[in-house]
Amino acid sequence: IYRSSVLAKTPSFLVLGPSGSGKTALVTKLETGHGSKTHTSQIPLTVQSHLPKSTVPKSWQYRSTADYETKAPKPLLLTDTPGHAKLRHYAYNSLASTTNPPTGILFVVDAADLSSSGTATGGANFALSDTAEYLHDVLLSLQKAYNNAKTSKAKEIPFLVAANKLDLFTALPAVAVKSTLEKDITRIRETRARGLLGVSTIGKGEGLGGNDEEGDDEREVLGGTSEGDFKFATMEEWNVSVEVVGGNAVGEDGPGVEGWWEWIGAQL
Ligand code: GTP
Ligand code: MG
Repeated sequence: IYRSSVLAKTPSFLVLGPSGSGKTALVTKLETGHGSKTHTSQIPLTVQSHLPKSTVPKSWQYRSTADYETKAPKPLLLTDTPGHAKLRHYAYNSLASTTNPPTGILFVVDAADLSSSGTATGGANFALSDTAEYLHDVLLSLQKAYNNAKTSKAKEIPFLVAANKLDLFTALPAVAVKSTLEKDITRIRETRARGLLGVSTIGKGEGLGGNDEEGDDEREVLGGTSEGDFKFATMEEWNVSVEVVGGNAVGEDGPGVEGWWEWIGAQL
């Protein structure tokens, strides 16, 4: 009982993102300090880790760093999820957990696989649209959860987009990852809104749509409107605070995981 109540209070981070983006590599690196060979994940896995001593948590910001170093390391939980499109229900279930909502969310993207020039297909990049669609859907589910919440609307959800694989020379820098994803989410949002428009007109014609709440929920558009460009900053209106930080879970070159630890520390 003691152990489970301690675990329930331990800050927890949910790790999401498409298959192959490096979620398991990142969780392993944050747990053990080194990389290891990974296989595609089929079930979620929660591990315990500790904030490194070099990263001072936000709750300690007004006290001396020297004092902090004498303290026991701050524990945290990381939940790795499978990224395959058919296995994302695990991620959505954890996301919707009301008994144990995550302290923060890490959405891992493969920064070396997002540029359209990076694919031989010339033009449409599957990795980009798959990544942006998953990200769109996760943000929309957070927006809906906020709108449907009867209480605790004040609680902000820290959301990190981890631009991974920056050790590779083909990788986009974090700022470009941000703008590329915003642009593709704008496109997805427009397409979805057009689809919804079709559905709702049919609904009206048949005398179906209109008053039921579920219908309204279904028609909800990310960021409230499909007009103009989608910006991550808009999500602040739904208390989702998005930051894009680059790094690499494996490989010696590149910024490593320091920026992600800094972000995690800022939530503790
Ligand atoms: P699923 O479990 O299928 O959802 O994928 P995942 O997101 O867990 O991906 P995983 O961690 O298994 O990594 C996929 C591949 O990318 C592996 O071959 C990793 O070694 C590689 N990888 C992960 N992070 C990095 C990185 O920072 N740099 C480089 N170069 N490769 C990476
Ligand atoms: Mg995995």
